[in-house]
Amino acid sequence: MGKEEKIAISEENIETIEEGLVKIQIPSFEKVSSKAPVFYNSKMELNRDISILALKTFQKEINNEIAICDVFGGSGIRGIRYKKEIDNVSDVVVNDISSLAIEFGKINANINSLEIDFEQKEANILLRENRGKFDVIDIDPFGTPSYFVDSAGYSLKKDSLLCITATDTSALCGTYKEPCIRKYNSKPYKSEYCHENGIRILAGFVALTLAKYKKYIEIKLSHSSEHYMRLYIKIKKGSAATDESLDNNIGYISHCKKCLYRIAISGIASPIDELCPICGEKIQIAGPLWIGKIQNHDFIDNMLNDLSNETTYLNTENKIAKLLNSCLLEADAPITFYDVHVICKNLKISAPKLDDIITKLEEEGFLAIKTHFNPIGIKSDVDIERFKEIILSLIK
Ligand SMILES: C[S@@+](CC[C@H](N)C(=O)[O-])C[C@H]1O[C@@H](n2cnc3c(N)ncnc32)[C@H](O)[C@@H]1O
Repeated sequence: MGKEEKIAISEENIETIEEGLVKIQIPSFEKVSSKAPVFYNSKMELNRDISILALKTFQKEINNEIAICDVFGGSGIRGIRYKKEIDNVSDVVVNDISSLAIEFGKINANINSLEIDFEQKEANILLRENRGKFDVIDIDPFGTPSYFVDSAGYSLKKDSLLCITATDTSALCGTYKEPCIRKYNSKPYKSEYCHENGIRILAGFVALTLAKYKKYIEIKLSHSSEHYMRLYIKIKKGSAATDESLDNNIGYISHCKKCLYRIAISGIASPIDELCPICGEKIQIAGPLWIGKIQNHDFIDNMLNDLSNETTYLNTENKIAKLLNSCLLEADAPITFYDVHVICKNLKISAPKLDDIITKLEEEGFLAIKTHFNPIGIKSDVDIERFKEIILSLIK
């Protein structure tokens, strides 16, 4: 068990928070950090609201009662909301390594008159001791989830859902290369689409880690918001299907910093050109990472239906609708995206209007899809050379 500082908690330094349909109490703290006596971050309300919708959709999809494990409970807000706001939930287990967090979790379950099971275990131990028990495992740790993915892979059963948050975006996005290699066994690079690459590196790491258990993944939804990335991943089983999934979905992305050419290459050990085929510059390579789909159209569509039909109490409703509508369009879009400003800087011109570029691409029969990763990003099947010509043609 980790070291815990003894702190004096009295009624004056207890704060009450309302979120979703629940009310919780936590010891007051000055700044959101891992040093807070019991962790709660109001900025993660969007993350929790989306989780509620995703789990509701998942529950309806499997059409059965679900048992949920909130592995890193903090104040218990997430697990408590799951029990209160989602129908057909059989059990919720809220776990945390901190005894104070568990103490407050229990108080908070009582305040909301909910029956919840509490555990105070190191996450890996809890996951390993409860193999095959949960339909949903939620991994929402401080920083990287990488230390817990193997145990989750061992624990997760067929057709269950893994929800996973990473806040170490500087590693996943390639600001710090070595930590990404150490934690995710994947080489990142910093580019205009590094947040998408970050999600793909995390997904690739999950897929490769779970493969040893003959489990493979289907990503239902993924998003990069503020300082974190979040993935909702359905777990499937079967050795042949796992092999096929790795063959089709694990690979690399090559990128040329000079002319902005990029290409996805499938396979764990496929040959990769060292030089850019367009300008001859030395190419950068990210991976291994997930080059398959990172959004599922039907799942997101069901979440959006739920949002408009039932769940009108969510404070972040407008943000969710905007994000999910974008992810819905991205479900059928190609890998990576073009950042119009980066391309225009490369061409040494001022940028034409985004909508004009999209119209022109569509007129020429190309896909042109906006992305939640970047307000001036366009996902398209056009190659970089033609894209540059199109942009230049729009400059008067
Ligand atoms: C980011 S907070 C969880 C926030 C919570 N899921 C929410 O939505 O508010 C991470 C929590 O994990 C706990 N924790 C840290 N390391 C752990 C470990 N190895 N096993 C179990 N819990 C751990 C911390 O005490 C902290 O409460």
